[in-house]
Amino acid sequence: MHKNIWPPFTQTATAPEPLHIKSAKGAVLHGLNGKNYLDCISSWWVNVHGHCHEKIAESIVKQASQLDHVLFAGCTHDSALFLAKSLCNLLPASLSRVFYSDNGSTAVEVALKMAIQYFQNLGTPERRHILAFQGGYHGDTVGAMSVGAESGFFEPFRGIFFPVHHLPYPATWDGDDAVEAKETAALAALEQYLAMHGATTAAFIVEPLVQGASGMRFCRPEFLNKALKLVREQGILLVFDEVMTGFGRLGSLFAFEQLEVQPDFICLAKGLTGGFLPLSVTVCDEKIFEAFQGDSFDRAFAHGHSYTANPIACAAGVASLEIFSTRPYDAYWQAVEVFHKEQLARLQKTAGKPLKTRARGTIAALTVGDDENYSTTLNPFLKKAFLERGLLIRPLGNVIYLMPPYCTTLEQLEEMYGGIEAVVLACK
Ligand SMILES: Cc1ncc(COP(=O)(O)O)c(C=O)c1O
Repeated sequence: MHKNIWPPFTQTATAPEPLHIKSAKGAVLHGLNGKNYLDCISSWWVNVHGHCHEKIAESIVKQASQLDHVLFAGCTHDSALFLAKSLCNLLPASLSRVFYSDNGSTAVEVALKMAIQYFQNLGTPERRHILAFQGGYHGDTVGAMSVGAESGFFEPFRGIFFPVHHLPYPATWDGDDAVEAKETAALAALEQYLAMHGATTAAFIVEPLVQGASGMRFCRPEFLNKALKLVREQGILLVFDEVMTGFGRLGSLFAFEQLEVQPDFICLAKGLTGGFLPLSVTVCDEKIFEAFQGDSFDRAFAHGHSYTANPIACAAGVASLEIFSTRPYDAYWQAVEVFHKEQLARLQKTAGKPLKTRARGTIAALTVGDDENYSTTLNPFLKKAFLERGLLIRPLGNVIYLMPPYCTTLEQLEEMYGGIEAVVLACK
């Protein structure tokens, strides 16, 4: 471990030496040790078109020599304007205002703060409670941790969180016989909450269809539709945290396309720049924006970051969206989902014990071992075993998952499943 580095989400006292990567192309990372590794998880879910995509790299170089950065309050620039317009063209017409920030956590903070101030500006400050699902993860800043308090990562900070009500989440998998009972119980808990606190709740934040960081926990669209409709009936704002699900991960460009209820806010980050640079957006309904208009600064949204709408990051975003508009990804995503399902079914048979397999779009996941927690002792074994096979897979506790970039070939996917099979069998 380098003596000047403190890496994220790592117990440095026991972690092995970090893998030193010197270059990357497509789905392959090239190690300083001379070995190649398949990036099976898109480098923490950010990469979409493959590493070092020429079009994005060119766009960054061009922008960097033209305008590096300018403050975004009182000034604006082409890349931010163009990216906002291109994004809004892909979203429901009501989602028309783009607020830039730097990462997924800040995109979530912005949505929560806007929701709270929206009701204050409307003269109904009593609407200030926040609702979320148990197991939801929304980032590591204090507001994002508060809504993600039940994700299992934040015990030392519980004392400083603002109050959030966490609803039961009916996580499910292939062949889950208990799914309907779990959904019925979750909806009953939601109805009970709404009967008591519906009128004082400002916003409901969800990771639509898949909770990522807490272990690729899937829910059924029919359940989520019912929950969202109940919440919407109470005038509560809906925040879709699509930081992970956005940009094609679930087989459509955004997860909301697979649901019947549209959000008032959508948070996007990770894949926004194609995986090159940190940038995020909170896109909100026009009615939210309108409630912040007025003569006094008190009604304005007093939030901003030094690098808000950084031109180079925005240029990367523009180039990434152009690639989305020219590549026929729909067919690719479908083919990957079919492949995932076939491979998971095969693995389930060979493993001879339940793996709780699940797949949607380009994400596939399975659970090994019995103890379901992030710090399971299986985890270091899994990480090491995959790296030895040339696979960069960073299991979430004992949940092994794939979320590859969209340049990954079926042969490369086959290689990933070959490695997973060997490792799962070794776990017996
Ligand atoms: C759903 C979701 N929201 C928010 C975040 C936080 O994003 P960032 O790490 O860019 O702050 C993440 C990160 O994994 C995420 O998966």
